[in-house]
Amino acid sequence: MKTAYGLLTGTEEERQHALKEAARILRAGGLVAFPTETVYGLGGDALSPAAAAKIYAAKGRPSDNPLIVHIARVEALQPLAAEIPDAVYRLAEAFWPGPLTMIVKKSERVPRETSGGLDTVAVRLPGDANARALIEAAGLPIAAPSANTSGRPSPTEARHVAEDLGGKIDMILDGGAVAVGLESTIVDLSGSVPTLLRPGAITVEMLEEVLGKVQLDPVLKKPLAPGMHPKAPGMKYRHYAPQAEMYLVDGAPEAVIRLVNKRAANAKERGERVGVLAASETASAYCADAVFPLGQREKPEEIAHNLFAALREMDAQGVKLIYAEAFPESGVGLAIMNRMNKAAGHHWLHAGEESE
Ligand code: TXA
Ligand code: MG
Repeated sequence: MKTAYGLLTGTEEERQHALKEAARILRAGGLVAFPTETVYGLGGDALSPAAAAKIYAAKGRPSDNPLIVHIARVEALQPLAAEIPDAVYRLAEAFWPGPLTMIVKKSERVPRETSGGLDTVAVRLPGDANARALIEAAGLPIAAPSANTSGRPSPTEARHVAEDLGGKIDMILDGGAVAVGLESTIVDLSGSVPTLLRPGAITVEMLEEVLGKVQLDPVLKKPLAPGMHPKAPGMKYRHYAPQAEMYLVDGAPEAVIRLVNKRAANAKERGERVGVLAASETASAYCADAVFPLGQREKPEEIAHNLFAALREMDAQGVKLIYAEAFPESGVGLAIMNRMNKAAGHHWLHAGEESE
């Protein structure tokens, strides 16, 4: 298949032209990758079982993993939901448009293919103006998982989408680098207690300001043990994973640097390429084949923004081993460490301990 490209960052005329063509493709049942403020999404008609099937095929994604339905205005939620608790409206008021996905009981209109066979549906009203303009122009709710091949890091630039899905989808809209860089926060409001299924830029602290206590899906911080099932089916996969073996390293900064440099030197002797993901403040202290400064320690949103691109860069550099500094889990840090843990398969090294 030939993939068409549309530019959203050129002239207004180019942008309008690209959005119009993309909307036409979506209405005709085709697939369009488009930027959102979190990551690029792979869009299709959310009310069409055939479009959902195409999305699963293009991503190589298991079809029991439900898709998020994107809308451009709050009123578009009603026809998709069987029941809308008051908490949904309160969160929508506080955080929509924005990087928050809410799960509610689904209506008959949402096909089983879109909801992965569940009786609930995940809905998001994105903050990105181009994303909303596309949904409006299509006149449809748009199902959109992240626009990566299943198992690879989510795309934060149009070229990442092209790497994974070029030739497999109808169109890619290029809106430049996304703002956030990590997928949306997912909160389940279909049960009696609001439950966080995936951390993101809307933090637990922010949700609790509106809702009071929010429960965390117990699988969020731990490696999945047999018999544990995350409520978001997608969270069970070793997602976001680079091809290299990855380790998270914690401890005092000097001890972390010492440990990583020692391991990197050993790997070099074996002829293995090593990559390091570090805060900007410490990046220059590492001796490795590829060192990627993620951002300042005090600015976790910078780290969130650069993480997935860094993981892809590690693959491009052909490194065999990645060592990544660990970050605090408060605020956006919870989302950063959730993605890093998945990328690393929960492999940890503790610097400064005997076993170094
Ligand atoms: O930021 C985002 O949310 C991006 C952009 C494109 O909007 N989309 C995204 O979609 O990350 P995806 O498909 O890559 O991740 C959706 C996650 C999966 O883990 C899926 O299992 C979960 O949401 N999910 C979707 N519907 C659900 C439902 N009804 N119940 C529980 N989990 C659900
Ligand atoms: Mg995804």
